[in-house]
Amino acid sequence: MIVEVAKLDNFGRGITYINDKICFIENALPNEKVEIKIINETKKYLDAKVIKYIEKSPLRIEEECPYSNICGGCNLNHICFNEENKFKLDKVKDIIKKYAGIDSSLVKGIIYHDRNHYRNKLILHGKGNELGLYKEKTNEIIPISSCLIVNPKINEIIKILNNTPKEISEAIIKTSNDNSKVMLKIIGSISDTSILEKVCDVLIINNKYLTKEKEIQPSIGNKKYIEGINSFFQVNNTLTKELYDEVLLNVKDKNYNKCLDLYCGTGTIGIYISDYVKEVIGIDYNESNINDANKNKELNNVNNISFICDKVENKINEFNDIDLVIVDPPRAGLDNKTKNYLKEINPERIIYVSCDPITLARDIKDLDTYKVNYIKVFNMFPRTYHCESVCILERR
Ligand SMILES: C[S@@+](CC[C@H](N)C(=O)[O-])C[C@H]1O[C@@H](n2cnc3c(N)ncnc32)[C@H](O)[C@@H]1O
Repeated sequence: MIVEVAKLDNFGRGITYINDKICFIENALPNEKVEIKIINETKKYLDAKVIKYIEKSPLRIEEECPYSNICGGCNLNHICFNEENKFKLDKVKDIIKKYAGIDSSLVKGIIYHDRNHYRNKLILHGKGNELGLYKEKTNEIIPISSCLIVNPKINEIIKILNNTPKEISEAIIKTSNDNSKVMLKIIGSISDTSILEKVCDVLIINNKYLTKEKEIQPSIGNKKYIEGINSFFQVNNTLTKELYDEVLLNVKDKNYNKCLDLYCGTGTIGIYISDYVKEVIGIDYNESNINDANKNKELNNVNNISFICDKVENKINEFNDIDLVIVDPPRAGLDNKTKNYLKEINPERIIYVSCDPITLARDIKDLDTYKVNYIKVFNMFPRTYHCESVCILERR
């Protein structure tokens, strides 16, 4: 069947309509004429794949990655970067308008850096001597020799692992954001660790540290941080500073007294803004994150920040006289309990850092005692359909 693609959906798939039923087509761009095969049909929608491109879009580019459409990591390899950024900006505008009724002119643009080598973390999966990425939506391993979106140090480690006999079920590779330090955790066994011990600043095999160092030290702006293997750190090497600077811009010169940094991870945002507020309290439920957050506090000689290891929804009702709240939740967004308490605490400003525009839209609609000042989009995850947004909310 030959169809014309109407537009992209929020996940970067082409959309067409067949007998009034929506049909999602992987790797198809607006205005392309494609021959498709239906691979899945439900009551509400169809999934199809392209058999032949009859008319290609001028926005389509050669795919540079040999694992494109196989590993499931990047699904926008076929769109030029300008168009990818435009897609993400328009997507946030559409979602915010559709689900929160917010005028799209309040979405103030998209910030982006490099399309390649931006990631500082990769998880590989293995079976027997094979090590690679999971094939999309399966546990089948696709061995890889390198990955286009990770920084070169990670690719060096992949090469060494590929050339060494091993039986590894999982390998986590992380680098500091200046690419100078590398940390590797292996679950399984490897015949020879001597090269890895030379190359890795931190090497962990089955929870045993083979190196003296136990952490790497990334930095953002003028703040230094400690990052352990199990703690959260933003994956984009360079754009994280821009994201945090957007938060800082809305804190500086405001003389806020008491600030909550909710879902604080290793305390990175709270510490970043600590010079400009009287007091910060960070909350995260992950123990490794809070351990590292306390080390980060010491490392930067910050005396006005404290951290609580608990669920945000269990603790948020214990605070009053808060004038600023920063939230950076996972993709699921804010739960109802947290949103209700936020309205009760009633801070002057809420800065919402979001990695999913759909839950952001739902949450700003629910936080109806606040109005949106502006939203900025950050392309923290080039080649994928994901993006980050910073939304500034003011008390009405
Ligand atoms: C997107 S990360 C944000 C980290 C941090 N703001 C940063 O920029 O590095 C989300 C964090 O939320 C934490 N988290 C998820 N659900 C939580 C909950 N219900 N209560 C507290 N923390 C939670 C996770 O441990 C994770 O560190």
